[in-house]
Amino acid sequence: MEERKFAFEKITNHLVTSGFVYPSSEIYGGLSNAWDYGPLGCLAKNHLKDVWRHHFVRPNNNIYEIDPAIIMNPKVWVATGHVANFHDPQVDCKYCHSRYRADKLVHDQKPDLDVDGMSQADLDKIIQSGEITCPNCGKNSFTPIRQFQLMFKTFIGVTEENTSTVYLRPETAQGLFVNFKNVLRSSRAKLPFGICDIGKAFRNEITPGNFTFRTREFEQMEIEFFFKPEEDLKWFNFWKDQCLDFVNKVGLKNDYLRFRDHEPNELAFYSKATTDIEYYFPTLGWGELMGIASRTNYDLTRHQEASKEDLTYLDPETNERYIPHVIEPSFGLDRLLLALLCDAYDEEKVGDNDTRIVLHLNKKIAPYSIAVLPLSNKLNEEANKQVWPLVSEDYDCLFDTTGSIGKRYRRQDAIGTPYCITFDFDSLNDHSVTVRDRDSMKQERVALKDLKSYLAVKFAN
Ligand code: GAP
Repeated sequence: MEERKFAFEKITNHLVTSGFVYPSSEIYGGLSNAWDYGPLGCLAKNHLKDVWRHHFVRPNNNIYEIDPAIIMNPKVWVATGHVANFHDPQVDCKYCHSRYRADKLVHDQKPDLDVDGMSQADLDKIIQSGEITCPNCGKNSFTPIRQFQLMFKTFIGVTEENTSTVYLRPETAQGLFVNFKNVLRSSRAKLPFGICDIGKAFRNEITPGNFTFRTREFEQMEIEFFFKPEEDLKWFNFWKDQCLDFVNKVGLKNDYLRFRDHEPNELAFYSKATTDIEYYFPTLGWGELMGIASRTNYDLTRHQEASKEDLTYLDPETNERYIPHVIEPSFGLDRLLLALLCDAYDEEKVGDNDTRIVLHLNKKIAPYSIAVLPLSNKLNEEANKQVWPLVSEDYDCLFDTTGSIGKRYRRQDAIGTPYCITFDFDSLNDHSVTVRDRDSMKQERVALKDLKSYLAVKFAN
């Protein structure tokens, strides 16, 4: 693939300066690789969640959204195998004690080697060969690979003596599995059906980085879709199509997308087959956006064995009892938003000697849908009275009164606002406003009485 037009760092700098993302706890010097979403990032994230719900939940009468707790009974993570198996290979430089994820260290210095799914012994051999150097001090001597537990531990209990160790969930998925029986009963659901959620997950990543691409705290949008045991392939393909449709719908084109099937020795410990949708990020190259995993009946079986609760399904047609199989489409919200922002970023020549930064974001994802711009401060009150109530109920809107109108248009372009509505002196007499389109920069005069329906048509497409 050829290099993308703009470097990753250029785009992320823009996102920080314009208020999408801030370094976390910045006034205390920050915390490495922790980020806070500012007003723009927060709005865009909420919109992305809405579009996910509109795509996956609302049109289907058999997908149920729930909101499970982050801290669960620790037996959950023993049952699923996370306590025993959810770790990454870690090495330390023997000289400067910098710590690395072994597979990433090798991949960065030997990009032609396929490290995904490489055994620990093979990775160790390469690292100990002397060909790999420490990115910090340049020496080439490392400790043997150790497995590093990725789950964050914390404690609950009223007194120190009573504390018991619990984990911050490393995936939201288990909250869906442990509620299988509850949803089945309370919703009178019948197979096939899905349970989904949107929520935070936590992993003590050895090498977080690349802005919000890999962090220790992130948000997932996950679905567990349950069905009869023999239907794995049918539903795996169905969800692959659904997920690609969604990614296209929010704005990513297939030129920079690909499916990548996991090799057998790369599969997560619970998975029979997994495919990722990857996006070609500027500077970083291909990176995983989401995964579609065939988890068979692994999780429900493990929970049934460990909890001794009956998690079988009684098929009303055949009268058979079985544990359903599952396909899991799992999106990382932060990564998907980052991909959309990278994709949307452009710098365009305007006229002979002007350029503009513009985010060509999907209209439904853009932080603000509309900016209301009174042409002069003398018009602020009338614009607030005549325009704001017409738009602010249906859309996230911004009222911007500072600077020349040209500067204000550029500011809105740079944060992706699809439409600017200018209220000028003529508006007082003709009861019309000028609507400017972010992408074409074309302007149209629209009567205030028609504004709502005009915008409804614009946002429907
Ligand atoms: N329940 C399955 C599961 O959690 P995963 O592939 O480990 O599967 C799903 O995670 C998605 O969550 C990834 O495709 C990615 O988008 C996002 N994700 C995982 N770890 C992340 C991290 N450290 N930072 C940001 N996003 C992450």
